Amino acid sequence: MKLWDDVARIMISEQELQARVKELGQELNATYTDEDHPLLICVLKGAFVFLADLIRHLEMRHDVDFMEISSYGAGTASSGVVRILLDLERNIEGRHVLIVEDIIDSGRTLDYITRNLLTRRPASLRVCTLLSKPSRREIDVPVDFVGFEIPDEFVTGYGLDFAEEYRNLPFIGVLKEEIYRNAEI
Ligand code: PRP
Repeated sequence: MKLWDDVARIMISEQELQARVKELGQELNATYTDEDHPLLICVLKGAFVFLADLIRHLEMRHDVDFMEISSYGAGTASSGVVRILLDLERNIEGRHVLIVEDIIDSGRTLDYITRNLLTRRPASLRVCTLLSKPSRREIDVPVDFVGFEIPDEFVTGYGLDFAEEYRNLPFIGVLKEEIYRNAEI
């Protein structure tokens, strides 16, 4: 398969991802009850694969909604510009809200989303991210559930893209340098 030829190295295998996602599901099962009926907010596009696997481990009643935020251009680093491309369908006032992210890098996107959602008066607001790059953090945002802390390498797969491609790879991988050499980093 052509896409796989662009991968230099697998950082987190499919098996490791699936095992950790299951554990995160169990952590959420220990945190929320049916009565809480949390609303999971999937931050598109990157988090959709993670969300799809995560909710299959949840035992409490819950529902999902979607937001799309754009902070990156076609390159591999945050421009610092955050825009809401798609907003929630429903009111979250009084709801227990869990933001589901694929990766937290500078923290700018999450900082914007949390400040924005807090103005809507949820009963609680927590954050679950599959990946975190602590060394890249510019804004200190609280994160409640973290799948993996990773080094500062450009990663794709399992929902994460490079120029909108590679989201379908079942692992987290590092692309060959020649693939993204000419992109803005
Ligand atoms: C990624 C990721 C986060 C954000 C993290 O989204 O999904 O939302 O960047 O970066 P930050 O901590 O530096 O703000 P991206 O803009 O790549 O969009 P996508 O999810 O649609 O691929």
